Amino acid sequence: MNRDQMKRRSIQQKIYCRWKTKIFSLLLLSFGFGSLLLMHTQYSRINMFMLFPPPFVQMPKIALLFIARNRLPLDIVWDAFLQGQEYKFSIFVHSRPGFLFNKATTKSAYFYDRQLNDSIQVDWGGASMIQAERILLKNALIDPWNERFVFLSDSCIPLYNFSYIYDYIMSTSTSFVDRSETSGSNSTWSYNAGSSFADTKEGRYNPKMDPVIPVHNWRKGSQWAVLTRKHAEVVVKDDTIYPVFQQHCKPADGSKEHNCIPDEHYVQTLLAQEGLEGEITRRTLTHTSWDISSSKDRERRGWHPVTYKFSDATPMLLQSIKDIDNVYYETEYRREWCSSKGKLSPCFLFARKFTRPAALRFLNTSVLAFNGGLIKA
Ligand SMILES: *[C@@H]1O[C@H](CO)[C@@H](O)[C@H](O)[C@H]1NC(C)=O
Ligand SMILES: *[C@@H]1O[C@H](CO)[C@@H](O)[C@H](O)[C@H]1NC(C)=O
Ligand SMILES: *[C@@H]1O[C@H](CO)[C@@H](O)[C@H](O)[C@H]1NC(C)=O
Ligand SMILES: *[C@@H]1O[C@H](CO)[C@@H](O)[C@H](O)[C@H]1NC(C)=O
Repeated sequence: MNRDQMKRRSIQQKIYCRWKTKIFSLLLLSFGFGSLLLMHTQYSRINMFMLFPPPFVQMPKIALLFIARNRLPLDIVWDAFLQGQEYKFSIFVHSRPGFLFNKATTKSAYFYDRQLNDSIQVDWGGASMIQAERILLKNALIDPWNERFVFLSDSCIPLYNFSYIYDYIMSTSTSFVDRSETSGSNSTWSYNAGSSFADTKEGRYNPKMDPVIPVHNWRKGSQWAVLTRKHAEVVVKDDTIYPVFQQHCKPADGSKEHNCIPDEHYVQTLLAQEGLEGEITRRTLTHTSWDISSSKDRERRGWHPVTYKFSDATPMLLQSIKDIDNVYYETEYRREWCSSKGKLSPCFLFARKFTRPAALRFLNTSVLAFNGGLIKA
């Protein structure tokens, strides 16, 4: 290589190097500009979001159907439970006719105006209770996104956070209906007061219901059921079983014949009558404790569910309810192990009956801290 050649090469190299620097700076510049552009579009997209909110999110919902006398004393507990789940539930309250849920009657905005405008006067023990259930279902069925229908009392609390309860209920295509056959029952108390209750030997089946409701279709079980949309429609459309209950179940008036406690038989018996028992999980998701010794009157003994007060509301009590994973139905010698998504699971998602102070005390403990928070008193 001569000097000339070397010189030329060194010049070429210099030019090459200069180009490299230029291209590099150009790349750097365009990168910077690109990021700026990107930021700008993101920003305008955020602006667009504010101007045009995204379409309303639609997803399968759980309809919470409250049966109350007047107001809902545990509204604050439900409020904490429902925070942030706006698209996954709807609320309907059957309270006495004319009772309005507004700022004056509830502390939770979720309940504003959620009362039904066609509610009826409920006589406890009469067929009006099951009519209230049917009115709730009729109203909740109007929204096609309601896929499960949960009956709740005004003294009922949720035991888990919303997502757990939603998944548990939605993960199966069945209803949850506590149901047992009365024939052959031996009239002892249910061993595990979890869901069942005692049935008295004489039973509440009224032979006059035959032949519309044959005795082999007569069922009993907890009123606190969870229904699929299909089963909710069956209940609302029913025009044969309900009239029979209406005719033969009158509020307790001392006459045994009339004391058939319709709300603890109606849905169960109707589903049996319609041949739909293959589509139910045979247990309730709502825990109730029955006090055997509370009444001295033999006839009425055991009919009263325990109400937990502030002093009873310990984390241990709640944990013991949450720990139940099987229920023994003594009248059928049947032990029901509770499962969800194929795994052994807690039996109960809800529990009753709790006073307001008791429920508020729970909210402050770690066993019932929805959304990880303590609540303001
Ligand atoms: C009751 O509410 C329904 C819809 O929620 C409405 O269509 C109906 O007109 C209302 N009835 C009365 C009497 O206000
Ligand atoms: C909800 O509860 C379940 C069961 O207790 C728990 O595993 C899960 O982490 C909770 N989820 C939230 C979002 O808190
Ligand atoms: C009912 O059945 C249980 C379970 O076997 C039995 O222990 C009990 O003695 C029976 N009660 C009556 C009154 O027959
Ligand atoms: C819950 O705990 C907080 C903080 O300790 C307390 O201020 C509040 O009064 C408690 N609420 C209830 C209902 O116990």
